[in-house]
Amino acid sequence: MKLAFRKKKAYTAGQVDFQRLPRHIAVILDGNGRWAQRRGLPRTAGHKAGAETFRTIATYCREIGLEHLTVYAFSTENWKRPRDEVDTIMLLLKRYLLEALNTMERDNVRLRFLGDMSVLNDELRELVDQCNAISARLTGCQCNICINYGGRAEIVHAAKMFAEDCIAGSVKPTELTENLFENYIYSSGIPSPELLIRPGGEQRLSNFLLWQCAYAEFYFTDVLWPDFTKNELHRAIAAYQQRDRRFGGVKK
Ligand code: IPE
Ligand code: IPE
Ligand code: MG
Repeated sequence: MKLAFRKKKAYTAGQVDFQRLPRHIAVILDGNGRWAQRRGLPRTAGHKAGAETFRTIATYCREIGLEHLTVYAFSTENWKRPRDEVDTIMLLLKRYLLEALNTMERDNVRLRFLGDMSVLNDELRELVDQCNAISARLTGCQCNICINYGGRAEIVHAAKMFAEDCIAGSVKPTELTENLFENYIYSSGIPSPELLIRPGGEQRLSNFLLWQCAYAEFYFTDVLWPDFTKNELHRAIAAYQQRDRRFGGVKK
């Protein structure tokens, strides 16, 4: 009997209210290494597969009209990894940027990079600058790619910039508010993510969007990032749409 094989509820587009999508979804792209290891492949193969999944999911987010997709691609802590793994991730990033330069105008996709780009090599920084320049002319879905990103580093960087403005006399410490502080963080002008998705089975932030996720809804899944599908995204959005977001208030 066919029905006996229906183990898992198959979340499809039907379960999602596309009129009530979050404006901003953030994703921690995790599980690439384990995906590869389970197949007896080098970890780098997992990053290659993960990059393909990113292309699929980013394209789909654009198609459904999501305003912002933010992905955690490389953290300030990921430099601790073996050299060849870091090199592969940077190479995949370069490939993606070259590809994006050819397609972002056609697809009306803006790219923004969150993190400290100063440590990237000249070639990568040049590509990042070119993507930023094109993005400035576009209006469509914005994909924010976090590279050499750390939530704590971001907050410290913002504090330094604010202190410098105080010394320069353009603002006073007493004038600092949460709204003003937002102007100094990497993601200034980007609405906070309503939904944070972490595939890969870990239930932690790993230094991602510490400021921005103050009221985000978290969705964790054991699915490894290279196996993440549109239906997994539907599942996450459907779960988000069931949540009761109170922001410290009481249920209406
Ligand atoms: C995430 O996958 C990608 C990066 C951190 C760059 P991992 O490489 O962390 O995969 P796991 O967690 O080891 O499986
Ligand atoms: C978080 O994943 C960073 C990225 C996905 C870029 P990690 O794999 O680095 O996080 P931990 O080490 O499990 O906390
Ligand atoms: Mg990991």
